[in-house]
Amino acid sequence: MFDGFINSLYIIASIFFILSLGGLSHQESAVRGNVFGILGMILAVGGTIAAKSLDSIGIVIGMMAVGGVIGILVTMRVRMTAMPQLVAILHSLVGLAAVLVGFANFIEPLTEFEGTEKLVHEIEIFVGVFIGAITFTGSVAAFGKLQGLISSSPLMLPLRHWLNLAIVIFCVWLGAEFLTADSLVSGTNFLLIMTLLAFILGLHLVLAIGGADMPVVISMLNSYSGWAAAATGFMLANDLLILVGALVGSSGAILSYIMCRAMNRHFVSVIMGGFGTTSKSSASGESGGEISEIFPDETASLLNSSKSIVIVPGYGMAVAHAQHPVAELTRRLRDKGITVRFAIHPVAGRMPGHMNVLLAEAKVPYDIVMEMDEINEDMPDTDAILVIGANDIVNPSAQEDDDGPIAGMPVIEVWKAKNTIVLKRSMASGYAGVDNPLFYKENNRMLFGDAKDSIDKLVALVE
Ligand code: TAP
Repeated sequence: MFDGFINSLYIIASIFFILSLGGLSHQESAVRGNVFGILGMILAVGGTIAAKSLDSIGIVIGMMAVGGVIGILVTMRVRMTAMPQLVAILHSLVGLAAVLVGFANFIEPLTEFEGTEKLVHEIEIFVGVFIGAITFTGSVAAFGKLQGLISSSPLMLPLRHWLNLAIVIFCVWLGAEFLTADSLVSGTNFLLIMTLLAFILGLHLVLAIGGADMPVVISMLNSYSGWAAAATGFMLANDLLILVGALVGSSGAILSYIMCRAMNRHFVSVIMGGFGTTSKSSASGESGGEISEIFPDETASLLNSSKSIVIVPGYGMAVAHAQHPVAELTRRLRDKGITVRFAIHPVAGRMPGHMNVLLAEAKVPYDIVMEMDEINEDMPDTDAILVIGANDIVNPSAQEDDDGPIAGMPVIEVWKAKNTIVLKRSMASGYAGVDNPLFYKENNRMLFGDAKDSIDKLVALVE
């Protein structure tokens, strides 16, 4: 009877999680999606605590309170631009949890299994710890790269693919030894050696991926963390955790696929690493040439005399917190009867949907926010393009070069418009470290300065 009640809670929680994912797939329904997720989690945690009727309930609630307070403090303090790092470190915790649960479950099982059941349970533990360990160190490496603590260029060890293969084969052998170990101590030793190797594998896999491919790494680790959670669910025989882990794992895998397609990359090539080396033709400073500068008053005149304007936001808009003045500028221009639209690149900023979140926060209407593929062909008919703190996503060398971190990546073809104005602080390159020939084109002008300061000036000048 009580088990049936808990199962019903789990089923309702699962429905909430599925509705949550559905809601998060559109900006309009994202808030509702979050609410569903919160409700699902309350039911899941409440049901699990009730089901276990734990003697140590006080400790569980105490630990949840400590974790909750840390979570609230961290999320209140983290800046929007540092969200990817936060996500990476949260993924690492899921991986670490899978490792710890695996060891605890092996050393002191919740249930004593015999025969085939024991074998299956130990396979679950071994696989769960393996995935968890890769997720842990991979996510820590991703954190280091995103935070700028580790170089964003790929680590190209000689024979690196063979090294990965050797580690995987050795782990399979360790798995066979683990399953046939005749004592707890020798089993634990095999598990421990495999964990250390999986730590190295996770680290090496992510370090081998170049900076410009980080969007794929983020979504891939998202997927791994889901599978690590599902593996933990198998170890603890918790159906809800298996289901939620599978949802996160598969949605992360789909997101990785979407990111790869957006960047014109093959998933396997990205995972195997080695992309992101800087070619001579695209390395910083090679394209050079003359740039023309523009100032806010001239920019405002150009905008005032345009019929059609496209705004391309990038990471710099997030850094400058310029989204609110950008929304105000858009409103003023539209009030004058000028068509204003936004062009969003799938990897603009530092996390999937970064620009959409900022524009939604500033209440820019959804119907003027277009995906790159929807708007690229309209560029030749556009009078003026404002590139606000974007760089790699509007770099023509992505189409011109055969080699380099962004070679082959589809970009927003802003240079085809009648006029482009790039708002940034200097001639520095973007995340991928590649010089941008757009800056030297005849129809381009540079409006130097912090994006928020420049847009504030434009807002005042566009009556
Ligand atoms: P970036 O190529 O990184 O360029 C951003 C530009 O903003 C910089 O050139 C910088 O130039 C400028 N900037 C910084 N602060 C500014 C400020 N306060 N005011 C004005 N400008 C400012 O950004 P992007 O074009 O959005 O491209 C995204 C890149 O990040 C891609 O290479 C992508 O692969 C990578 N990435 C994306 C993700 C996801 S999931 N979206 C995750 C990881 C990495 P100045 O310093 O001269 O101002």
